[in-house]
Amino acid sequence: MTVLVTGGAGFIGSHTIVELQLAGHQVVVVDNLCNSQAESLKRVQQITGQAVAFYQADICDKAALTRIFGEHQILQVIHFAGLKAVGESSQIPLSYYQNNIAGTLTLLEVMAAHGVFDLVFSSSATVYSPEAKVPLTESSPLAAINPYGRTKLMLEQVLADLAASDNRWRIWLLRYFNPIGAHPSGLIGEDPNGIPNNLVPYVARVAIGRLPELPVFGDDYPTPDGTGVRDYIHVVDLARGHLKAMENMGSGCQVVNLGTGQGYSVMDVVKAYREVSGAEINVAIKPRRAGDLATCYADPAKAAEYIGWRAEFDLRTMVEDSWRWTEQNPAGYGS
Ligand code: NAD
Ligand code: WQD
Repeated sequence: MTVLVTGGAGFIGSHTIVELQLAGHQVVVVDNLCNSQAESLKRVQQITGQAVAFYQADICDKAALTRIFGEHQILQVIHFAGLKAVGESSQIPLSYYQNNIAGTLTLLEVMAAHGVFDLVFSSSATVYSPEAKVPLTESSPLAAINPYGRTKLMLEQVLADLAASDNRWRIWLLRYFNPIGAHPSGLIGEDPNGIPNNLVPYVARVAIGRLPELPVFGDDYPTPDGTGVRDYIHVVDLARGHLKAMENMGSGCQVVNLGTGQGYSVMDVVKAYREVSGAEINVAIKPRRAGDLATCYADPAKAAEYIGWRAEFDLRTMVEDSWRWTEQNPAGYGS
């Protein structure tokens, strides 16, 4: 089957393409490379030995999408393309609404015009209300607290309305928790531009000597060691969740969490990274980061029941794979 992957050159997209190709699917990628490099797709081809049909195009460009749908017999779409930096989304909200919301609306229009109604959408645990109790289930209360989160929440609502209006649509909303790690080959991984916003890419850059120390945002949370607790999930597990969702489309618009159900603190991650890398990894305790929660982790039971998916890899494996990628590519894809 031919699958269109938007944002396929990015972190989660590139890992998902590997799993798609290994499962025998043909992959077409649309990515404008605003937060990635085409090198990631070359590496994907190196891992799988299979070609990716790559179009450097913007999902807001209706003519380009129309041409791509005309050139391939696309049956399903996995939609990763979007901007994802929480802090930046408050500084340039219009770019976030334009890219994430207008881009998705354009994609949906082109899909419908070509009779393609199966969609797997990247949502996020960020749609859950800060007041919601852990573990978070799919029916926990929702409330986004920044423009990025609002784009995800609004798109979930758009997709639910669309599926309710026309029963040809089959949509999975996948709420990811904290994806980390890298492909075990060390060929593809996470390569953020500039100073990383997220914990593990930051720790990796300290371990490899590109940054001097890790700022730890708060050590006075009501958690076992006072640092924030999150549900880190191996990006390969996450990628496989997309395959499982595609294979179990069901009907209408449905939602599942993709998390492990297990929380780890910032210092748990630092300790694992120190053990695996042998690097010192200096830390500096800083004030809490605005908008951060003490603890966030999933109840992953629904994904097991509805799509037959469960995370397999533990924190140690996530960190080992992150470190292999970092050591083999100290400057990311720019190495
Ligand atoms: P990423 O930035 O590595 O990948 C996104 C890709 O989309 C990039 O390659 C970028 O160049 C491309 N892109 C962005 N806007 C585009 C546009 N208008 N047209 C075409 N391509 C465009 O991010 P990722 O971590 O792989 O995230 C993938 C998706 O998962 C995003 O929608 C993100 O919001 C969501 N998500 C990510 C996380 C996370 O922590 N990484 C967590 C929850 C949800
Ligand atoms: C994890 C923990 C920080 C960096 C974000 C988005 C969320 C989703 C996933 C897209 C927290 C601490 C971090 C640092 C630190 N993305 N930390 N020093 O905030 O859980 O989730 O990515 O949908 O929407 O908000 O992930 O990796 O930024 O932080 O101490 O330099 O690490 O305070 O406790 P977060 P993160």
